[in-house]
Amino acid sequence: MCKGLEIRKTVPISGLNLSLDELPGDSWIFAISTVVWREVWKYGPRGWRYTQLDIGHALAALGISAHVHQCSIEVYDPTNLDFIHDCFGLQSISQLVDSDHRELERVNLLIQISPPKTENLAFHLSQHGIRFLREFHAQNAEFLGTPNRIFSRSQHPENWPFLNAIQTVSEIRQNPPEAILGGAQPEEIPELNQIYSDEIRIRKSIRKRRSVLSFDGNSKMTIAQFVRCVSGTLVDFHPVAAKSLDFVRGECAPLVFGIWVHRVKGLTPGLYLIISDEGLLEKLQQEFLDSPRENSTGWQRVVNSEIPSWLPLYFVSDHLQSAISDEKSSKVGAKSDLQAQAGEVSCYQKIAAASSFTLAMFAPVNAEGLQIPRGYTYQHWRAGCVGQLLYLQAYEENAGATGMGCFMDDLSSNAFHFKSYHPVYHFAVGIPQTDVRYSPFAYNGRYFPDA
Ligand SMILES: Cc1cc2nc3c(=O)[nH]c(=O)nc-3n(C[C@H](O)[C@H](O)[C@H](O)COP(=O)(O)O)c2cc1C
Repeated sequence: MCKGLEIRKTVPISGLNLSLDELPGDSWIFAISTVVWREVWKYGPRGWRYTQLDIGHALAALGISAHVHQCSIEVYDPTNLDFIHDCFGLQSISQLVDSDHRELERVNLLIQISPPKTENLAFHLSQHGIRFLREFHAQNAEFLGTPNRIFSRSQHPENWPFLNAIQTVSEIRQNPPEAILGGAQPEEIPELNQIYSDEIRIRKSIRKRRSVLSFDGNSKMTIAQFVRCVSGTLVDFHPVAAKSLDFVRGECAPLVFGIWVHRVKGLTPGLYLIISDEGLLEKLQQEFLDSPRENSTGWQRVVNSEIPSWLPLYFVSDHLQSAISDEKSSKVGAKSDLQAQAGEVSCYQKIAAASSFTLAMFAPVNAEGLQIPRGYTYQHWRAGCVGQLLYLQAYEENAGATGMGCFMDDLSSNAFHFKSYHPVYHFAVGIPQTDVRYSPFAYNGRYFPDA
C-alpha cells in the first residue's frame, strides 16, 4: 500500500563520480519493489501470482502516465544486480529479525523516465544508469527511516514452504527455446495509435477508474466498445504498453486470450479466442481438435464489418448457450450454461457471469514453459499490463472492469481444451451497477465531480 513520497536517502550530486554530461537531465529512476509474503500469508501460492500481476499493473500505469506527459521510458530487469536492494534501502536478510526472511522486500523492476526532448539519449539503464546506481549505492550517506514490517513470527507462525523455492526459481534467467517464442512479430497496428490519443480523457480515466463490484447483468456493450476494450490484449503492438514491455520481447511466448462473450450486441454469446501468433494458433487448434468435445468444428475467424482485420478474433463454440437449472443458476446468478461456466472457472464470482464478457489470459506452463521460469514471471507482468489497459479502456467506454486473480486453473484451460496453456489472470468487463462507495469525490468539504 502506497503511503506517500518519503525521502530515504540524500546524496550530494557532487559526490557522484559520474560527470553531469552522463546524467540524463531531469530523468529519474523508479524502482518497483514487492513483499510477496504480504499477499502469500493470506492467499497462499496464489499470492505469488497476485504480486507479479500487480507489478504488471504498476508497470503499465507508469508507462501510460509517461505517455500522457510525453516522457519516454526504459525498463530494466535488475535480477542480476545484487546491490540493487540495498541501493534503495530495502532491508537486507541480516536485518530481518528471527531469521524470518518471509517479509523480504525485493526490487523487481527499474524504470527510467525521461522528460520530453531529453538530449542525452545515450544515457540508458543498461549502461550508464546501472553505473549511476552503483555509485549512488556506494555513497556513505545514511538512509532516513527503516522499512516497516507488518507481521511478527508470533502472529503468523505458519510458513509456506514453496515461497523460498518459487522466489529463487522464478529469478532464473535462461534463453528460451525458439519453439515456444512464437513466430515472427506481426506488423504494427496503426489503428491502435488512436487509443489514448485524447490526453484529457485518459487523465480523467486514470484518476477515476475503480474495480467494478457488480455488473447489471442485462445491458449489452456494442461491438465497437468490445473491440476497443480487447485491443488492450494486443499489448505488444499497443503504442503505449509496447514500450513498457520491450524488455520481455523474445523472453517468453505470447499470451493467448479466451473469452466468454455474454452480452455484446451483434456477437453470438459463446466462447471466443484472440491469438495473434499463427504458429500458436495451429498448435492450440490441434490440441482442441484432438480432444474429446461436444462441438465438432474447429475455430472460425470472426468476419464481421465491425471487427477490424487487425483483431485476430476466433469463434470457438456456442454449445453452452442453453438455459440452466435454478440450482446451478443460484451459485453465480447465471442465466445460461455459458455464464455459469464463466462464473465457475472464476472461483464462482458473480461478476464473471454478469459481465458483458469475461476474459482469461493463458500462458504456456508445460515442461517447455518451466524451462524458463523467468519467462513465467514475465507472463504475469505482461498479463498485469493487459489488465491495466482493460481497466482504463473499460472506463473510457463508460463500462467497467475487475481483475480476478482467483480462478480454477484446470477448469479454465479445459473450457478451451488447452493442454499446454494455463490461465494466469481472469478479467470481467461490462456495464456496472452504480457503485455506491463514492460519489462525488469530496475533499475538505469541496466536491470535485469531474476530478
Ligand atoms: C492482481 C489482482 C487480482 C484481483 N483479484 C480479484 C478477484 O479475484 N476478485 C475481485 O472481486 N477483485 C479482484 N481484484 C480487484 C481488487 O480487489 C481491487 O483492485 C482492489 O480492491 C483495489 O480497488 P480499485 O481497483 O477500485 O482501486 C484484483 C485486483 C488485482 C490487481
